[in-house]
Amino acid sequence: MRFPARASIAQATESLSALLKQAGIAEHHSDARRLVCAAFDITHIEMVLRPDKEGEPAELARLEAFATRRLLREPVTRILGTRGFWSLDFTVRPQVLDPRPDTEVVVEACLDALGSRRGDRFSILDLGTGSGAIIAALLSECPLARGIAVDLSSEATAAAKHNLAALALSDRVVVLQQSWLEPLPGPFDLVVSNPPYIETGVIGDLDPEVREFDPMLALDGGLDGLDAYRAIAERIRSWLSRDGILVVEIGATQAGAVKTIFENAGARLLALRQDYAGQNRAMVWVL
Ligand SMILES: C[S@@+](CC[C@H](N)C(=O)[O-])C[C@H]1O[C@@H](n2cnc3c(N)ncnc32)[C@H](O)[C@@H]1O
Repeated sequence: MRFPARASIAQATESLSALLKQAGIAEHHSDARRLVCAAFDITHIEMVLRPDKEGEPAELARLEAFATRRLLREPVTRILGTRGFWSLDFTVRPQVLDPRPDTEVVVEACLDALGSRRGDRFSILDLGTGSGAIIAALLSECPLARGIAVDLSSEATAAAKHNLAALALSDRVVVLQQSWLEPLPGPFDLVVSNPPYIETGVIGDLDPEVREFDPMLALDGGLDGLDAYRAIAERIRSWLSRDGILVVEIGATQAGAVKTIFENAGARLLALRQDYAGQNRAMVWVL
């Protein structure tokens, strides 16, 4: 796509917003604003205060490239390569799940369940760490905690290492590339996981932003979406210390089925937490 050779910040934002709307992109206005800010290298405040400032040819060319990618349904976070999660900035890389705001509820659930223990020396196991978002957020809040972050994907472990180093948290976490089906050292005081939980059969119906840009290994939870919970439930006794806490993210409709899986493994539900849309999102368990 091409923008006019000359366009102000406001004109560029309006044109891009209209194009994205035409393409059926629901968040067209906020997406356009974020892409214009990035292309013009301005803050949102500058955008509001100087709407008539004309873009340089290089800025408009950059915006054109961004627009083309967004029209192909690439998410803004992937185009810009960064995502704010908790109070931290993460690099978003291809073949690694883009961490979602809903997953912050998992971090909140962990911190609430830890209570006053969050200031103590304790250990964390993050299963399926992806970009490292959950364990980084926890380590940033718990200054004496240490942990292990595990992921089967080499792209994910590389991304987690990069993000943890950029956040100066590397000295408190070991990142391992392996499956949670293989033996892990332990026990841990806190085991946390946002595992893949989408039913294989519905992945094709997801928005293109998800099905074409998030890795299948991060989405596919098996035929009923529950494979990872069964794997974790089978092993949780060997991973969790006495008085240890398990926190898992779940799909909005999975609370009942996941409850049965962990109760059958002898765990006791401590809390079920909702996300910002009011959907069930995190479960807190003890043995
Ligand atoms: C839904 S993503 C969560 C990523 C990250 N924790 C977050 O919340 O943004 C699930 C992660 O589990 C990883 N994974 C899938 N199967 C796995 C397995 N058997 N062992 C270890 N990691 C696995 C995927 O590669 C992916 O990074």
